[in-house]
Amino acid sequence: MGKIWRVSGPLIIADGMRGTQVYEVVEIGDEGLVGEVIGLEGERAVIQAHEETLGLRAGEEVRATGRILSAELGPGLMGSIYDGLQKSLLAMIDSSGAFIRRGIQAPALPRDRRWAFTPSVKIGDTVEFGDIIGTVPETPLVEHRIMVPYGVKGRVTEIHEGEFTVEETIAVLQCKADKRELSLMQDWPVRKPRPYRSRRTPSGLLTTGMRILDYMFPLALGGKAAVPGGFGTGKTVTQQQLVRWAETDLNIYIGCGERGNEMADVLHSFRQLKEPRSGRPLQEKEIFIANTSNMPVVAREAGIFVGVTMAEYYRDMGYDVLLVADSTSRWAEAMREMGGRLEEMPGEEGFPSYLGSRLSGFYERAGRVDCLGAPDRVGSVTIAGAVSPPGADFSEPVTQHTLRIVGALFSLDTALANKRHFPAINWLSSHSQYVTAVRDWWNRFDPGWETTRAEAQRILQKESELEEIVRLVGPESLPDDDKLLLLVARMIREDFLQQSAFSEADTFCTPKKAGLMLKAILRFHEKARSLLDAAVPYETIRSSPVVARIARMKEIRNETFEEKYPSLREAIDSVLQPDAAGAPDPSRAEE
Ligand SMILES: Nc1ncnc2c1ncn2[C@@H]1O[C@H](COP(=O)(O)OP(=O)(O)O)[C@@H](O)[C@H]1O
Ligand SMILES: [Mg+2]
Repeated sequence: MGKIWRVSGPLIIADGMRGTQVYEVVEIGDEGLVGEVIGLEGERAVIQAHEETLGLRAGEEVRATGRILSAELGPGLMGSIYDGLQKSLLAMIDSSGAFIRRGIQAPALPRDRRWAFTPSVKIGDTVEFGDIIGTVPETPLVEHRIMVPYGVKGRVTEIHEGEFTVEETIAVLQCKADKRELSLMQDWPVRKPRPYRSRRTPSGLLTTGMRILDYMFPLALGGKAAVPGGFGTGKTVTQQQLVRWAETDLNIYIGCGERGNEMADVLHSFRQLKEPRSGRPLQEKEIFIANTSNMPVVAREAGIFVGVTMAEYYRDMGYDVLLVADSTSRWAEAMREMGGRLEEMPGEEGFPSYLGSRLSGFYERAGRVDCLGAPDRVGSVTIAGAVSPPGADFSEPVTQHTLRIVGALFSLDTALANKRHFPAINWLSSHSQYVTAVRDWWNRFDPGWETTRAEAQRILQKESELEEIVRLVGPESLPDDDKLLLLVARMIREDFLQQSAFSEADTFCTPKKAGLMLKAILRFHEKARSLLDAAVPYETIRSSPVVARIARMKEIRNETFEEKYPSLREAIDSVLQPDAAGAPDPSRAEE
């Protein structure tokens, strides 16, 4: 047992700590605050405290635990709200009132609740790490598959069906020399990635319902994306949209170092939401980690790793899991603060030199894998992390390191947000490496997706080139086909890419509708070009009523879009007939 020698914010130096290990968890002071040894020199340990250290004094005890920072895994995770140390915030509020005290014990998994366990193995079977031995209906949306814990292999000598708490014995294995009792619960050291059999490439679209993401910058299951943006550009709204609509089996939302009232808003709005496909409460497939800016900074890192460990655990059951973290910059700031106190040699902008490796250690835990154990299954963890560069300056270290790691970039743009173009995702600076990974997926809904996407990108690219000329000499000097291109580019931006998260009809767009919307715009372009060829003036085309009809496409509901599309297409075709150009507009009758 050691004693505190010095306290400096979250950093504690303790003497008498021989025998402890780096990353070992210690309990500090009378209240038993959670800390982690991060350095050892002889008897002296450098400890980072994950809880508020105010009032701790030299001479108070530090107790080694022999454990490393671990997450509790088992039924009861879904629907929970945790702090960075996986203490249940709801349980804490119950036991200590609305004011949350430090040091308080609030186990991650409720100890008194019983779960109905149905075994899937029988006496005599030999099982090992990763094998599924039975299931528990954790929530109506998530079936919890109970897996043999790490390092265990043996023959089943007892297996029980019925209702159990997470601590009671559900099975007994005869291992080599000894017996091993299994319960519904296990734990895992959070800094260590959970193993899998083999890695696959990301594949299939992580549907978000946001056209600019799904269609233009797709995120594949098992992929990694960064969402950088200045203040108020839509990082939080974008991540909420992902979690709300993603067709994943379950999601993990890590609120990391953002303001408490914003996190409270997020939690509050999620409590009202329904899972879109089943109509069940969305929280039945969500886990929240709420680690706000007023909580101890060191716990931000713990929260990130606790979150990704839970994600891997459900992946190992064979699920597709989405994890979002808002914001990874606040975690990096915590690293900088600790580095400063440790008087480490700072790297760029005061961040520690291991910033990049720590960030990639987190993102690399995304992936689509063949899981260990029987039966065969494939699971995935997809990660989307927000980055909050100060002053929206993307050249700063956290953004730059993140960009080197991720496969998709959703670049939020202050100028677009100021113009209230939402989602304020810049179509020229964003990118995705997952186009091949989702090609087959898209072709089922929108044959030729890749070509349509490339054509839209070409038009937007051309627009940005023409903008320079327009700035210099005005739009009037452009040839008609360039004027038309600018009109079509505007349609793509305003009538396709722009999409309000708060519009009932438009907040979620099915792939079918997205594909048809863009096809309508490109068809307009094609028909209009042939009009120009037939010497119809550009003005006639621009003032055609189909332009307004295209602008209203997004208000048409997903369910009826396909049925209404032919009439829109007909309108585009007939109005834009060379011989009809001057004639009365037949589509006007139905307006
Ligand atoms: N997709 C969107 N649709 C509609 N409005 C949006 C969208 N994204 C952002 N906004 C608007 O921008 C505001 C700020 O977004 P927010 O996500 O809180 O920014 P950040 O987290 O980057 O600071 C929101 O309150 C909302 O009014
Ligand atoms: Mg935010």
